Amino acid sequence: MKVFITGATGIIGKRIVKQLVHQNYEVIGLARSGQNVAQLEAMGATPRRGNLFQAEQLIEISTDCDAILHMATKIPLKTIPKAKDWAINDRIRTEGTRNLITAAEQNGIETFIQQSVIFTYGDQKGAHIYSDTPLPEQVNYNLRSNVEMENMLIQHPSLQYIILRFGFFYAADSAQTQNMMQMAKKGSFPVIGKGQNFMNMIHADDAASAVVHALEHAKQLQRSTFNITDFSPISLKDMITAMAKASHGRSPRYIPKALARIVTGKAAVDFLTASMQIQPTTSFGAWQPKYPNFTKGIQEVAEEIYQAAYQQVIHS
Ligand SMILES: NC(=O)c1ccc[n+]([C@@H]2O[C@H](COP(=O)([O-])OP(=O)(O)OC[C@H]3O[C@@H](n4cnc5c(N)ncnc54)[C@H](OP(=O)(O)O)[C@@H]3O)[C@@H](O)[C@H]2O)c1
Repeated sequence: MKVFITGATGIIGKRIVKQLVHQNYEVIGLARSGQNVAQLEAMGATPRRGNLFQAEQLIEISTDCDAILHMATKIPLKTIPKAKDWAINDRIRTEGTRNLITAAEQNGIETFIQQSVIFTYGDQKGAHIYSDTPLPEQVNYNLRSNVEMENMLIQHPSLQYIILRFGFFYAADSAQTQNMMQMAKKGSFPVIGKGQNFMNMIHADDAASAVVHALEHAKQLQRSTFNITDFSPISLKDMITAMAKASHGRSPRYIPKALARIVTGKAAVDFLTASMQIQPTTSFGAWQPKYPNFTKGIQEVAEEIYQAAYQQVIHS
């Protein structure tokens, strides 16, 4: 089976590529640069140069493929992103998805797996959330493109789409995880309010294995949306405490919500204080996360970060 993947060099994408190559899939990765080409070749994939925003080119480079996995994102890494910082990510979700759908239609590619996020549920005040729980009518400005992206697939008359809404990623090679670990170590990742709200985490390895599982079972899972997390919701306080402990750091401090809004901005506070408890679904089949518990998973991640830093020092 020949699989076309966008975002193949990202935190999730590269794990998917490695798992698929290991299972003898033929993997074609969208490459935007010479660096991407080299990275894809090193992983055993075939790079094809292209751009998500060139519809004709996408049709051409996915012509002989049997499935499309759309994993590209451009999440702003700034602590306080402005609306304009989300523009490329919005474009990837909307124009990029539209172009890939056209490529799928033109090339007769039936299977289309789309990366999405659970954050579109907003603040559910700790409620249990299932894969068929409807999204709220109003979503944050930076998630409107996510809703549009999902709707393009859901409303498509024939595409065998599978939407995977991921929880909060963590991985040793994620810049976001590394930043959070540094902050937790220094005690500068504060718990907002009492920190009793529930977060829903997923190790990047598990997000990737969920995509591979969806591809393997595409016929049974098609035309569905699934929430993919470790299914062990953790309070913000326990999440930050686990990161501080794993990095041998200080106990976290607490700051009131109003002060946090001034320091980090409303969007970051809304994100970190939203609460919901994502529940497993039997309809996704036998997939299980390898890291079912953040407290344990983050200890392994901290060890990996430490080892990588140690190797860098001794080789410098
Ligand atoms: N659920 C979550 O918690 C969540 C969701 C998303 C992201 N994140 C965080 O954000 C970071 C990003 O993770 P990620 O794997 O989603 O993304 P990533 O590691 O930044 O990788 C993004 C991928 O998308 C590609 N891409 C970016 N802009 C593109 C464009 N205009 N056209 C085509 N491809 C483009 C990149 O290719 P290039 O190499 O060419 O740039 C790369 O392969 C991680 O630290 C992750 O933890 C978290």
